[in-house]
Order: sequence, then structure tokens, then C-alpha cells
Amino acid sequence: MNNPPPHTAELLGTVISAPFPPSTTTFSFVVNNPMVRKHQFVKVEGEDGVIFGVVIEIERMNRYFEHAESIAEYEKVSPLENSFPVDRWECVVGRVTVLGTFSDGLIRRNIFPAKPGAKVAISDPGMLTEFLGFDETGLNVGTLLAHDLPVKLNLSRVFQKHLAILAMSGAGKSYLTSVLIEEILERKPEHGRIALVLIDLHGEYKGLANSYRDNVLYIDARKIRVSLRKIKPTMLYEWMPNLNGGQKRELEIILKELKEQMKASQQAEGLDKLIEILADKMSQKGSKAKTYDVLYSHFKELSYYKLVDKSDSPPVIDIVKPGVLTIIDLSNIDSYMRKQMLVSYLSHKLFALRKKKKIPPAALIIEEAHNFAREKAKREIAIAKHMIETIAREGRKFGLSLCLITQRPMNLSTTALSQCSTNIILRVTNPNDLYHIKDSCEGIDEKSLGAITTLRVGEALVVGEATNYPIFLKVRKRKSHALKESPSLESMAKEFETSDKKETDELTEAFL
Ligand SMILES: Nc1ncnc2c1ncn2[C@@H]1O[C@H](COP(=O)(O)OP(=O)(O)O)[C@@H](O)[C@H]1O
Ligand SMILES: [Mg+2]
Repeated sequence: MNNPPPHTAELLGTVISAPFPPSTTTFSFVVNNPMVRKHQFVKVEGEDGVIFGVVIEIERMNRYFEHAESIAEYEKVSPLENSFPVDRWECVVGRVTVLGTFSDGLIRRNIFPAKPGAKVAISDPGMLTEFLGFDETGLNVGTLLAHDLPVKLNLSRVFQKHLAILAMSGAGKSYLTSVLIEEILERKPEHGRIALVLIDLHGEYKGLANSYRDNVLYIDARKIRVSLRKIKPTMLYEWMPNLNGGQKRELEIILKELKEQMKASQQAEGLDKLIEILADKMSQKGSKAKTYDVLYSHFKELSYYKLVDKSDSPPVIDIVKPGVLTIIDLSNIDSYMRKQMLVSYLSHKLFALRKKKKIPPAALIIEEAHNFAREKAKREIAIAKHMIETIAREGRKFGLSLCLITQRPMNLSTTALSQCSTNIILRVTNPNDLYHIKDSCEGIDEKSLGAITTLRVGEALVVGEATNYPIFLKVRKRKSHALKESPSLESMAKEFETSDKKETDELTEAFL
């Protein structure tokens, strides 16, 4: 008897020349190992080196069942398997997309097809790690689907040119984000640690503060104050998008005068002082009374948001630190405008401070990013959009990255999304969102797009800069457990009934 071929466990099958002959971009193989899986990376020895590919489909074939009329005719008498050895003619065929050739430690474009008869094997972990561009000290986000290989993404490749996390609601975006955060918080300084600032709309990341006490700063956004002395007119124009040229000019003059006054008196002033000045100017009923009137109304409205004050609190420069996550919890703020202004302020501040290298390289993570950088948004509600797009375009030069998370990719600014060179996509089923993803993500093909609709919670496709080829992965279990889970409808209903009963009991008692 012949000796078994080496590495039998890894062997999956043999390259065939039908129904389509192997080409430089694709080949099929007949499967003789049940370990074959869709999305599995495989290798074949070629003339120029090792041909690398990925299984894109697995199909079952049987010649006995190719002709409908014959089968129908035969089966009028008895099932086909009673008369023919149909089982012996069944085979499984794997279809592979060729990704490249690996020779002398280099990955090249494949120039010669796989040879019919060549043996197909599962890629070994070492080669796969190198081929996909994983990094031993990278961010361990999970395991490669169809392989038991940790996915360790290089920090710079993920964050330097911005990251988008896209999926429908409930697919695991926030879960994956907390896994990414954990990886950054646990990094050693010698591997390079960035600072993280997270816009948390629903207060669902508070739990990370319990697990990583020393590396998490939790800030209730209601307490954030912006110093009037340091406020830039450009930011105010974004907050008040309807101001016309004359109003803007007047605002600059008044603001400049007030800032000079503050400097001279060495005394900080808040918004009330500015409103007082405007009221005074209005009462003089001069030619610019209308302008002052408009400015007065705008600043009066701004004062309701309690955002502008005598000094910055907390100063952004103090809350952005390497290896530290700063959670900006917006969940207690109801006003849409106030949330927009806060995100606009933080983006402006991070950009300016990072440009002057006063803070470490940082990533601004924005949950529900479509709310802050909305495609086709009216000017009045697109307050934070301009600065987010600016960071998307210019941030990477200064080491300021964006991580945009959304369940509405279609509504997210195309300018911002197209600058995200890595996309992590979890389950998406809405066809419009799928088309938008296809348009905005380079390197996503029809097959991968189809696979996105079948992903399960916690499974994701990584496309772009972070890996050499698109990969599917299963997000690892997170280490921190206290993310706020939304209560089930049953538990809310039960809670309501018991609290209602208590109240009735109390009322009855009081009556008696
Ligand atoms: N990788 C995962 N492993 C285990 N459970 C997960 C995973 N991803 C998500 N989940 C669970 O699925 C639910 C929805 O996840 P979540 O991250 O909140 O979704 P999204 O932010 O996309 O709406 C949560 O209960 C979460 O615990
Ligand atoms: Mg979420």
C-alpha cells in the first residue's frame, strides 16, 4: 500500500478542469475532506510558488441527476437509487478565487493557473498570518471564520486612515467597538498606544469604566462647558448656520472687543455678559439694531444649552491621554442641538490640539455617526458635519483618526465614509444600505456583499487597509461585561405591573 501523502489532515482535495478550467483568478477542486468550509483560505503548489486562494462556494454534483426528463421518466417506475449506484457518483466541488502567489516571502499577482490534479490544502497559520498581514502585537478582535486563527490587526492599518463599522441594528457594532477599545486599553506603551474619545449616545459603554478603572475617564456630557474666551467665531458659525455676512462680521467685532476686555481686566466672562452687551446695543436703536436683534436671539438660545461659560470644563487637553478611553456620555441630554454642538466642539478641539501636538495621537469614536455627519442634512442640523468631514480628510496627517459607527450607512456623509479606508461590516440586509456599502468600499465584490446578508450576530467582514485581503471573522468575547443591555419587553412589562400594584397598595393604605 502507498504511504499516505504528507499532512493528510490539511488536504482538502484535487484541482479539476471542469466545469471551468483553472485560470489565473479562479479554480475548482473536488473535495475529499469534510473540513472544507466557505471563506477558508487554501493553497496549491504552483510553478511560480504557492498559489493562495479562498473558497467562495461549495457545491454538490451528481451526473445521475443532470437531466430532468430522464430522472422523471425513470422515477415513474422506482427511485433512481434503486436502479443505479447514484451515491458513488456524488461529489463535492469547492470553487476558489485566487488571491495571489507566495514565493520567496513575497506576495505577487498570480500569473499562472493552478494545475489540474494539484493537491489543495488548508493554508497553514504561519503563512496565513503573513499573507493576510496580521501583526503579532496587533488588535486581537476575534478568529478567522473557517480557521482557528486569531485575527490580530495592525493598529496603524486600522486607525490611521479612519475606520467605519457598519451594520444593521443588533448585529454587534457596539460589542465589536468595546472589543477594539479593550485591545487598545490593554496595549503596552512600547507597542504604541493611542488615546480614545468615545461619543456614547446611549450610555452603553459605562461598564468599561468598571473593568478598566485606571484607563477610563467617564464624563457626563451635561457637565461640559466651553470657555467664551477661547471660542472661535468659525465654530459659532457652525452652531448658528443661518447668520448672514453682516451678522457674522458684527459678531466677530463684539467677540473681539469682549475678549480684549477680559484680557485687560483679567476676568473671565460668560455668555450672560455677551447677551448683556447685545441687549445694550439693541436698545440704542441704531442702524444695526436688526443685526443685534438676530444675534441676541441666537445667543439667548445658546444660553439655554448651558454649554458656553467662563472657562473650559473639563479642558479637553486634560482628558485625552495615551491608552486611556474618555467616554463622553450624551445619554442624559435630550436636545438634539446640544448634542450636535458638543460633538462639533470636541471635534474642533481635538483637531486643533492634535495639530499643535498638545495631545497624543487619538481616535474619535462616534456611535450613530449618521446623526452627526448626515448625508444631505439641512444646514441647521448639520452642525458637527463640517468638522467630522475635515477630520476625515485631513486628520490622518496629524494622527487624529475617526471610527464612525452606524446602522444607516446610506445616511452617513459620503465624504466621511469614503475616507474610511477600513470597513468592518457586520450583518446588513437592507438592499439600499448594501448598494451604498458596495459603492463606498473599495475591494468589496458581489460574493462578499451577498455573504453580508447571511452573517450571524458577531460575525464580520473586514475590507480595506487593515488586511491584505478581505476576511470574515467571528468577533471574540469581550472581557468587560457591564455594557448596558436593553431590558426585554417582558421584563419592562413585569416591572410596570409590579410597580403599578405597589402604588395602588400605597394609595389604598393611605385612604384607609
Ligand atoms: N461577538 C458577540 N458575541 C456575543 N454576543 C454578541 C456579540 N456581538 C453582539 N452580541 C450581542 O448581540 C446584541 C446586540 O449587540 P450590539 O453590539 O448592541 O448591536 P448593535 O450595536 O449593532 O446594535 C447584544 O446583546 C450583544 O451582547
Ligand atoms: Mg449599538
